[in-house]
Amino acid sequence: MLDVQNMNLRYGQSQILFDVALQAVTGKITALMGNNGAGKTSLLKAIAGRHTAFDGDITIGGKPAGKANAYQAARNGVAYVPQGREVFPMMSVQENLETGYACLPKSEHRIPDMIFDLFPILKDFLGRRGGDLSGGQQQQLAIGRALIAKPRVLLLDEPTEGIQPNVIDQIGDALQVLRDAGEMAIVLVEQNADFAYRMGDTFTVMESGRVKRTADKATCSKDDLIADLAL
Ligand SMILES: Nc1ncnc2c1ncn2[C@@H]1O[C@H](COP(=O)(O)OP(=O)(O)O)[C@@H](O)[C@H]1O
Ligand SMILES: [Mg+2]
Repeated sequence: MLDVQNMNLRYGQSQILFDVALQAVTGKITALMGNNGAGKTSLLKAIAGRHTAFDGDITIGGKPAGKANAYQAARNGVAYVPQGREVFPMMSVQENLETGYACLPKSEHRIPDMIFDLFPILKDFLGRRGGDLSGGQQQQLAIGRALIAKPRVLLLDEPTEGIQPNVIDQIGDALQVLRDAGEMAIVLVEQNADFAYRMGDTFTVMESGRVKRTADKATCSKDDLIADLAL
């Protein structure tokens, strides 16, 4: 579903990604790992149209995506849950979810029940301000918002960062439901090796802007993964 090849990305004069390749298959979770500064967020931003200063080929569902901006990427079926969540603090939960309508025709402006099935707390707190939710609840809101447009590719940037264990479990359960529904390819950026190994079907490990290893779970033990991360 998602195929990235020869990705070279720069911020001004400094090159951050070097010939990076990443694939994500529908109905699977691709865990993208690597230490701080490895370039994980930069890669997701390029795919999501948040940073277009790159050379490389992004293909979605077999179609070249070119250098889509954020709006075009969303139209192409890419949804992005940013690191740090980026919930609008002064807007209600409902209004935060409704920002996901931006790339949908008016006839499709409704919040799918599936989002409340995955994260019941969002239904209970529809009228509450985003900024008043806990970190874990905000993360659920950010994921719910990304699901509004029924993406084909869901990119999640460190969704468990700074979140308490019981909410991590809820997020893990939700991602498994989404994976098993078989309608989207999921890219999960994670530094938490336990969670990444539990969730991932395929692993791509980055180091200093390059891909160090790509492996399926069948050929990659958790110890292999941890050794690659040099944790
Ligand atoms: N907006 C930016 N301008 C300049 N350099 C940046 C910017 N964002 C990230 N970087 C640099 O790019 C490198 C990769 O960062 P990032 O993609 O955030 O890595 P990761 O998500 O793996 O921690 C780091 O060296 C970081 O300092
Ligand atoms: Mg990052």
